[in-house]
Amino acid sequence: MAVTIDGKQIAEDVVSKVKLSAAELIEATGVTPGIAVVIVGEDPASQVYVANKGRKARECGFHSVQHTLPEQTGEEELVKLVETLNADPAIHGILVQLPLPKHIDSGRIIQTISPDKDVDGFHFINVGKLGTGELETAFVPCTPEGSMLLIDRILGRDLSGLNAVVVGRSNIVGKPMFNLLLAHNATVTIAHSKTKDLPGLCRNADILVAAVGRPQMIKADWVKPGATVIDVGINRIPAPERGEGKTRLVGDVDFADVASVAGALTPVPGGVGPMTIAMLMANTLVAAHRSVGKTPPRF
Ligand SMILES: NC(=O)c1ccc[n+]([C@@H]2O[C@H](COP(=O)([O-])OP(=O)(O)OC[C@H]3O[C@@H](n4cnc5c(N)ncnc54)[C@H](OP(=O)(O)O)[C@@H]3O)[C@@H](O)[C@H]2O)c1
Repeated sequence: MAVTIDGKQIAEDVVSKVKLSAAELIEATGVTPGIAVVIVGEDPASQVYVANKGRKARECGFHSVQHTLPEQTGEEELVKLVETLNADPAIHGILVQLPLPKHIDSGRIIQTISPDKDVDGFHFINVGKLGTGELETAFVPCTPEGSMLLIDRILGRDLSGLNAVVVGRSNIVGKPMFNLLLAHNATVTIAHSKTKDLPGLCRNADILVAAVGRPQMIKADWVKPGATVIDVGINRIPAPERGEGKTRLVGDVDFADVASVAGALTPVPGGVGPMTIAMLMANTLVAAHRSVGKTPPRF
């Protein structure tokens, strides 16, 4: 039976370390790590994510501001807000909640964020740094960064000799995950919807990362015995057993099935999910350290 990787606990450990380090930074320099979260529109899921980020930032002892803009906000207005935050010395991390309304060019907004405050790691400068292995000065997207930390807790930092397969090639999860695993010496393959014999490819993986968005797609016979399996997927499916119209969250991995084969496996919820917000706090702390020329802690 696989070890269940407790993402909730590991995320709490990260947040505790952030809190401690933030207090030390404030004491030593008078600089309080500051994060600004910008949300445009009324999307209920985004509202919940943003509220959680603000709450966690305050728990870490950060200066936290939220800018809530109406759905009809123009692109120029949003660009101006981001530029103001870029210039604000009290703000070290800027996060623009995606998706933005369709009339706003998300790409332009992301590229307007100063790379030094881009705690989501989506700016081309940070994408390029990750791609070229400049991890000391890069910001890495929070979900793959958190997933990497879970792998680290199971297998250690050096993945020499291990085969990793990442299923999914998105810019926010699959591709950065590929680069992180490579930076940790794994031999990495990235798979997607055009990949031939996906089950056969996955069976070769000592580390299997699923970032697809297809509920319970990965079954036990896709998994190498003893493999470490990281399930990034979050999918809502009907749960009639809980009552009429009820739903529940599942990952891209069939947890009950795969647990009989894998060595270690993340649950959904309680695996990668909590790590994402913890790494956002860690990245903001790192940004604050860099802003005053201090060496940030390692996570
Ligand atoms: N835990 C978290 O905090 C967190 C954060 C972000 C995302 N997520 C979840 O992670 C999942 C992936 O997110 P994303 O943003 O990366 O999704 P995305 O942009 O939709 O990318 C999905 C990827 O999966 C591939 N794919 C789709 N169907 C496939 C199939 N049948 N076989 C093989 N590959 C297939 C796609 O291939 P093509 O490129 O060929 O189309 C694409 O590369 C979603 O469930 C999302 O909700 C979780």
